[in-house]
Amino acid sequence: MKLLVTGGAGFIGSNFIRYWLKTHPGDEIVNLDKLTYAGNLENLKEIEKNNNYKFVLGGITNVDVVGTLVSECDLIVHFAAESHVDRSITDAGAFVKTNVTGTQILLQAAKDHDKRFHHVSTDEVFGALALDSKDKFNENSPYDPRSPYSASKAASDHLVRSYFHTHKLDITISNCSNNFGPYQFPEKLIPLAITNVMEGKKIPVYGDGLYVRDWLYVDDHCRAIDLVLEKGKIGETYCIGGMTTDINNLEVAKKILKLLDKDEDMLEHVQDRPGHDRRYAIDWSKAKKELGFQPEHNFEEYLEQTVKWYQDNQEWWQKVKSGEYKEYYQKQYGSSS
Ligand code: NAD
Ligand code: DAU
Repeated sequence: MKLLVTGGAGFIGSNFIRYWLKTHPGDEIVNLDKLTYAGNLENLKEIEKNNNYKFVLGGITNVDVVGTLVSECDLIVHFAAESHVDRSITDAGAFVKTNVTGTQILLQAAKDHDKRFHHVSTDEVFGALALDSKDKFNENSPYDPRSPYSASKAASDHLVRSYFHTHKLDITISNCSNNFGPYQFPEKLIPLAITNVMEGKKIPVYGDGLYVRDWLYVDDHCRAIDLVLEKGKIGETYCIGGMTTDINNLEVAKKILKLLDKDEDMLEHVQDRPGHDRRYAIDWSKAKKELGFQPEHNFEEYLEQTVKWYQDNQEWWQKVKSGEYKEYYQKQYGSSS
């Protein structure tokens, strides 16, 4: 089978490509990535010479490139997106272009060439849960996006479903909670906190820090997507989440400080994120029942593994933080996106 993976040079996409080539060694992967600030070919160094892997530098809004690559693949796994909420607050334009228009261009190509399309989405489309509730998001939760990022992902989900209903396109969607693990860009809470502390800087905690996320180790997300591709019902959505129960950002930051043997004076409360969603939690019982999914990596243990990965791979994140990582592909491809 030949997979077209979009956004495979980013955090989850690169973990997915490594996972897929290991678990499906007979399959081929083409990775279409524009290499925005978040795309880093060093994430894929381990497999870049694999005969079953090919990288194509290009954007998902390029109709011609997308049309050709889609015509040559068996199925599309769509990760490419602008993914950081804070960036969507300061400049939402790229979010609409990539997350909405880019997704529609891929869908149209998938329709034109009759290809299966899996859309990787987020739990943020459902909005926010109250801190004192026991509620969880599930596949029937109403859409209530509250940031330009989540609004653009919500729009993309609706487009994906519209191609199913209108054009009978073979689609599936997964709405997943917060991922953590190796190769995550150090703008997101966990890698930012770990690398800041290693640099002797404080961990910026937004507002009161009592915001709750449903953390999932990235390998569990990759396996969940594999299960959706294998057993998911066409036209269906699957919510994917972790095994943590309501751990807040302050607690996450304190655990990281403990793992790095540092005091809590390394915490710094800073101005809150506008429209900050209070709590996310996922009910993944449908994915368990229909796909046999359940998270296998426990938060405490894999947070420790993740801290260790950033300790063992300081060159990787130092190059990212300094901007030097761009030189790696500029040497090969001439210029960045
Ligand atoms: P990321 O920001 O690390 O990577 C995004 C990748 O997409 C980068 O390689 C970037 O170069 C590429 N890209 C961006 N615009 C592009 C374009 N126009 N054309 C081609 N490539 C482009 O993101 P991530 O955290 O790996 O998230 C991947 C997907 O998973 C996104 O769709 C995101 O919404 C979704 N998701 C993320 C999380 C999470 O916790 N990180 C959780 C649930 C769902
Ligand atoms: O829920 C899934 C989503 O998780 C994905 O769709 C997004 O792509 C991904 O970025 C992530 O969104 P969040 O906004 O939840 O992740 P982030 O790491 O930016 O923030 C996690 C929490 O930590 C959130 O409550 C904001 C807070 N935070 C974040 C940063 C960067 C801080 O307190 N300080 C920080 O410096």
